[in-house]
Amino acid sequence: MAKRSLLWSLLLGLLSCFIVVGTYGENLHHSRTISSGNYHEAMHRLKAFKTSLTRHESIASTPSYSPSPLPSQGVNNPHVYHVTAYGADPSGNSDSTEALLAAIADATKGPSERYLLEGINDLGGAQINLEGGNYMISQPLKLPVVGVGNLMIHGGTIRASNNFPADSYIIDLSKSSNKTPSPSYNFEYITLKDLLLDSNFRGGGISVINSLRINIDNCYITHFTTNGILVQSGHETYIRNSFLGQHITAGGDKNERNFSGTAINLQGNDNAVTDVVIFSAAVGIMVTGQANTFSGVHCYNKATGFGGTGIYLKLPGLTQTRIVNSYMDYTSIVAEDPVQLHISSSFFLGDANIVLKSMNGVVNGVSIVDNMFSGKNSGVEIVHLDQSNSPFHQVDQVFVDRNIARGMKLKTTTAKMSMQGNGTSWSFDFNNILLFPNLIKNVQYSLGSTCCTFPNHALRNVSENRVVIETKEAVNADVFVMVDQSVAS
Ligand SMILES: *[C@@H]1O[C@H](CO)[C@@H](O)[C@H](O)[C@H]1NC(C)=O
Ligand SMILES: *[C@@H]1O[C@H](CO)[C@@H](O)[C@H](O)[C@H]1NC(C)=O
Ligand SMILES: *[C@@H]1O[C@H](CO)[C@@H](O)[C@H](O)[C@H]1NC(C)=O
Repeated sequence: MAKRSLLWSLLLGLLSCFIVVGTYGENLHHSRTISSGNYHEAMHRLKAFKTSLTRHESIASTPSYSPSPLPSQGVNNPHVYHVTAYGADPSGNSDSTEALLAAIADATKGPSERYLLEGINDLGGAQINLEGGNYMISQPLKLPVVGVGNLMIHGGTIRASNNFPADSYIIDLSKSSNKTPSPSYNFEYITLKDLLLDSNFRGGGISVINSLRINIDNCYITHFTTNGILVQSGHETYIRNSFLGQHITAGGDKNERNFSGTAINLQGNDNAVTDVVIFSAAVGIMVTGQANTFSGVHCYNKATGFGGTGIYLKLPGLTQTRIVNSYMDYTSIVAEDPVQLHISSSFFLGDANIVLKSMNGVVNGVSIVDNMFSGKNSGVEIVHLDQSNSPFHQVDQVFVDRNIARGMKLKTTTAKMSMQGNGTSWSFDFNNILLFPNLIKNVQYSLGSTCCTFPNHALRNVSENRVVIETKEAVNADVFVMVDQSVAS
């Protein structure tokens, strides 16, 4: 009830024209009661709201700003730097590097209101507005100083020219000089939003080096040869609602075998990738930093069959990664010696699976639960152990359970079997279903018999993933066995 009236009061302002008058009066007694008089008032408010939206929009999109590139510096004026005012060419024909760098330089000179981390100048929400243009650049866009934050670059397309340095990134959030003293982080709270970045097969899209609270939102990054996005040290880079692919394809590309590069390369901690599609790259996401989280990621970057990897967790010994609600589409997750890894509520299509790759034989604190797998009946295991370097010999707290498979081989760390028969020995072989060879940490069984004798029975052997139950004399019985590889008790 409380929820409902809150929801209604939130929606009222926007949707009043759709509300059936009077019907929900009893839920609305402490908010607004709708009458026909309030209906007109609500319509009026809605109109005013719409007008205010349109007004904001026109400020952002019409080129009616003053010819002076410098915005007024009053505290209450917005600091919006329109790049065409600096001579940038929105048709993409001539080189706009100088103009974009000049706009960036001015933006980073803005007054500091000092609300950010120590050593970071707060630019007060300054914006570099690309005005929906398409700009060609021949040098990376770098901020001329470190130690600034609260800045946004948004709203346009940037393409690397044919002489762009092939080891660079279009937008490069790194330290440009070795000026001392430098703050502990290069940048804080920089937002890169609504951008199409085309690396023109010359290097990468965005690099974020030793920075804090960087947003990459609604970006389309393509034609990279190195990394679409590189995040190195620092923390809390949030990448969301974005699309990355080396080649522009919608799947089934005849050159998929040749896709290279890495779409997102996370070499730092505490980052999040949410609602991101990776449609072409040899590796979708390469992870070498801890405590990163992935949600709503759809990888169809390069099929495992062609040598691609969806998400590669290269943090043997301390992984600390969560992958949830994601869609691995013909491309797998590989984790080296995973320690603390959680994968759940995800969908694996086309024989995509999870490979636990032994480096030093350690796997600890892993849960792979509640996922769906769908394959082509070629016997691919949903979770596969790659023990080519070394067998896994330190296995603890590994839970692979409650996954469902269609056309793939189910593997679990807990299994049940039952058998009905007359005899003195019941033998159960779990090798087909258990993930780890020769590892049963816990057995439970029940022996049910309604026959004449009251049988003596015992668990006689647990080895090689086989369980043997024996009775003293022949009985007709139902035997049920449950085994567990995850924990000892
Ligand atoms: C893909 O790579 C192979 C081998 O590297 C090469 O022979 C082939 O020409 C490439 N195809 C395309 C379309 O680039
Ligand atoms: C079970 O097997 C034994 C001998 O193997 C036999 O004597 C007995 O009648 C059997 N019991 C039932 C219920 O079939
Ligand atoms: C238990 O079974 C294994 C084969 O699975 C066998 O090698 C071993 O000797 C058995 N142990 C005992 C005590 O019977």
